[in-house]
Amino acid sequence: TGPATMSPTGQATGADQAGVAQAGSYLTTAQGARLYDTDHSLKAGPRGPVLLQDHHLREKVMHFDHERIPERVVHARGAAAHGVFKSYGTAASVTKASFLAKDVETPVFVRFSTVLGSRGSADTVRDTRGFATKFYTEQGVFDLVGNNIPVFFIQDAIKFPDVIHAGKPHPDREIPQAQSAHDTFWDFVSLHTEATHHTLWNMSDRGIPRSYRMMEGFGVHTFRLVAADGSTTLVKFHWKPGLGVHSLVWEEAQIINGVDPDFHRRDLADAIEAGAYPQWELGIQTFPDTPGQTFEGIDLLDPTNIVPEELAPVQPIGLLTLNRNPANFFAETEQVAFHVGHLVPGIDITDDPLLAGRLFSYLDTQITRLGGPNFPQLPINRPHAPVNDMLRDGMHQTAVHRGVAPYRPNSLDGGCPFTAGAAEGAYVETPVRVPEATKVREAPESFADHFSQPRRFWLSMSPVEREHIIGAYTFELGKCYEQAVKERALQTLANIDPELCDQVAKGLGLPAPKPTVPLADVEPSPALSQIGGTWPVD
Ligand code: HEM
Repeated sequence: TGPATMSPTGQATGADQAGVAQAGSYLTTAQGARLYDTDHSLKAGPRGPVLLQDHHLREKVMHFDHERIPERVVHARGAAAHGVFKSYGTAASVTKASFLAKDVETPVFVRFSTVLGSRGSADTVRDTRGFATKFYTEQGVFDLVGNNIPVFFIQDAIKFPDVIHAGKPHPDREIPQAQSAHDTFWDFVSLHTEATHHTLWNMSDRGIPRSYRMMEGFGVHTFRLVAADGSTTLVKFHWKPGLGVHSLVWEEAQIINGVDPDFHRRDLADAIEAGAYPQWELGIQTFPDTPGQTFEGIDLLDPTNIVPEELAPVQPIGLLTLNRNPANFFAETEQVAFHVGHLVPGIDITDDPLLAGRLFSYLDTQITRLGGPNFPQLPINRPHAPVNDMLRDGMHQTAVHRGVAPYRPNSLDGGCPFTAGAAEGAYVETPVRVPEATKVREAPESFADHFSQPRRFWLSMSPVEREHIIGAYTFELGKCYEQAVKERALQTLANIDPELCDQVAKGLGLPAPKPTVPLADVEPSPALSQIGGTWPVD
């Protein structure tokens, strides 16, 4: 947004009203006609009926009637900030993405969110947090649409509507939000044991962050980086907060929800206003791009898996600093449209089936949420790279396209400005070999182990973190009405660790079931614990 264009009287002209709040010496209608009164309807006499011919009344009320747009179907509540990403250049050997070359500075917009609550819900609920970053690179927009938890509930996007239906408020009474008192949530996650790992993270202190500024972020999926020489590397993206990872304790979270439901958004805005700019280092774990796409026996296409940092250290590649609050919540935080398919040359996707569904879902939902297909033209979504497309018309089209031939090749508009496929710096999909296969609706065998990674997480926790996890399961399951749901949830805990299961069962006054799978023989990963685990950011 730039400075407004002002008329001689100090009015913003219709061409550019950015940054102006009724700054001129008089008000106008939306058509620019000067008003003499905006406080009284036109009436037949001071006590007479209001006249339908009052255009200003109708325009003002009509616009107000349409001020709200649908909230996001998930991640409806959020807060955001502008900033800058400065690349160290340490990823330049594995990716040709120009914004990751040494010392390149890229403007960014970051939106943090809860997942399940509505737009007006409280901040410090137990939930996953979104951590979405839009990089306005010179090669186009790159969006890293991640969470503060490195794994996801499901392995295939076809189940996303189901898990969200289970997590959103009950359809009859519209209560509650987040995981508390939620039979459907616990029903779903106990019937889908692939959700065990994500649920355990939710029940840990990670589910109630102290501040957006004190959260890690994760790209979750494995991505494929492409170097200038065409070589490829599989990676997982990590954000490491300069302030370290910190959480609330449950009692604090509950009190804050009542006392200050805007706690996280206030904290972010206040910190930036005070000049205490939050920082994160972006890091990557790298894995050889082998045909099997596994690392140390871990299937890299399964989004319920992490790769322990002890096996693949996170290598810092750049520094994010958030240094400017949005000027207008609606224009920026509400209208920003992230999409995992917004990629730049040097960053490509993998065949993770969860990622595949996301590649459809974001653009699709934004057509409804932002009123048609032209939302990339909104100021917050506009790339900082030149746009030269053949997309035309549609609802809320604001571009005045020139020429008569939006197709190529053409012989009317001077031909076509480029030759398809030949341009330097274009986004070219990596020619990955697709193995010969039969069409099936089934998961691979390598997606079947749902308990060894949760067990590693549990074993990595310090005593106080374990105490919090036991307390969280006991509290949340204690709110379920259905006995069968509680019992099935306890079974998943038994398959993680008998001690965890025993303690929660005791709290619920139920018998502790025996494991139904052999307990995995896994090493703890100290990096998973929040205790003492800060990250150096200079
Ligand atoms: C929104 C992350 C899985 C559909 C979001 C947002 C984040 C996010 C951070 C909020 C973006 C913002 O601030 O505007 C993730 C992560 C996932 C995941 C990390 C798994 C690794 C999925 C899946 C689907 C999906 C599987 C659908 C198949 C959506 C939709 C929105 C959304 C429809 C709303 C977007 C909008 O209205 O602009 N997701 N998500 N997500 N996500 Fe996901």
